[in-house]
Amino acid sequence: MIKQTISNDIFYVGASDRRIKLFENIYPLDRGVSYNSYLIAGDKTALLDSVDDAVGKVFLQKVKDALGDRDLDYFIVNHMEPDHCACIEDVMNTFPSVTLVTNNKAAMMIQEYFGYDWAERRIIVKDNDTLSIGNHELKFVFAPMVHWPEVMMTLDTTTGILFSADAFGTFGALSGNIFADQAYKGDEWQEESRRYYTNIVGKYGVQVKNALAKLTGEDIKMLAPLHGPIWRKDIDKILDKYAKWSTYQYEDKAVVLIYGSIYGHTAEAVDMLAAQLDNLGASNLKVYDASNVDVSYLVAESFRCSHIIIASATYNGAIFTPIERYLAEIISHNLQNRTIGIVENGTWSATSGTLITKELEKMKNITLLGNKVSVKAALGENNLDSIKALAEEICESLK
Ligand SMILES: Cc1cc2nc3c(=O)[nH]c(=O)nc-3n(C[C@H](O)[C@H](O)[C@H](O)COP(=O)(O)O)c2cc1C
Ligand SMILES: [Fe+2]
Ligand SMILES: [Fe+2]
Repeated sequence: MIKQTISNDIFYVGASDRRIKLFENIYPLDRGVSYNSYLIAGDKTALLDSVDDAVGKVFLQKVKDALGDRDLDYFIVNHMEPDHCACIEDVMNTFPSVTLVTNNKAAMMIQEYFGYDWAERRIIVKDNDTLSIGNHELKFVFAPMVHWPEVMMTLDTTTGILFSADAFGTFGALSGNIFADQAYKGDEWQEESRRYYTNIVGKYGVQVKNALAKLTGEDIKMLAPLHGPIWRKDIDKILDKYAKWSTYQYEDKAVVLIYGSIYGHTAEAVDMLAAQLDNLGASNLKVYDASNVDVSYLVAESFRCSHIIIASATYNGAIFTPIERYLAEIISHNLQNRTIGIVENGTWSATSGTLITKELEKMKNITLLGNKVSVKAALGENNLDSIKALAEEICESLK
């Protein structure tokens, strides 16, 4: 195996899966995903988390090769989701004298997943506990619900490397480069980092904010997540994004227009609205057909933009299904603080607008724009006026 060094005596022993099509069997992956694991091989050796079954074999080989003729002293389990815990039993069996280091909640999950908890060779840590492993001092910082309740981060206070569990992760397999500053050009990391964050942990903004607060004052030099590349330069860039995302502040003062249209008339209205916004000088506009874009992208775009136009045909007395699903997702992900405009359509009784308004009441701090576009089957003369009025109102509120 080729050894990849993160710093001095710390190595990358994770692996990528480029065959996987759906993360958590729901989120589309265009370019796979990586499952990261790290090995500290200083005075003592410590492995941080394992990987998904899909890459378990190569992971174990990497661990063995990185250890050489040394034994594994500690195995630290930060997160018990199967994409990281799948190989716990293999690690415990391969290294019969290894000591498992985890917290109470994770230990209970280990028992549940594996029917055994290795209590006879285990250290249970509490929040902020430290463990000295020779030339490295480890501190365990609990981060409950920064994806699951048992999650903790491990800070190597000697090197300033934060093994941050799912936080600061990104979709996408690694392509050799393990550091973000080498893996990405400019800001191209943002799209998949945002889609990962918003969909996977977006719901738990309060808990993410709390975890970040616990880390202020620590001298963090690297963020080593469980997915995607490691951050060692411009750490502030991703920390700034997390500060925004976790408090549901928009990143861009911009409009995203999302429509659900059966025959195309609602789509036409939205395209006209976007064209009028362009006439009025709005930039960075994005139009999406909810039937043709996975909802995870729409959730991410809704976290990014300050203004959202939601457009839907009426469908069996309800909101057209793709928009219904989109609304359910932004509500369940706790999206807040947005300005929203509505376009509705129906041939005999256009109720979709009223129904969307009702759904939006479940969200915090939503400013609903007063001008609504109501299409009856196809666009009529009166619609042009209402589209122009809504465009004016949007631009006024963008100022
Ligand atoms: C299965 C189905 C159910 C519909 N239910 C309603 C309805 O309950 N109320 C209504 O006014 N129109 C209903 N319509 C009609 C559409 O809402 C209407 O044709 C609308 O103009 C479609 O907009 P679009 O061209 O953007 O698809 C329904 C259409 C379909 C295919
Ligand atoms: Fe997770
Ligand atoms: Fe994960």
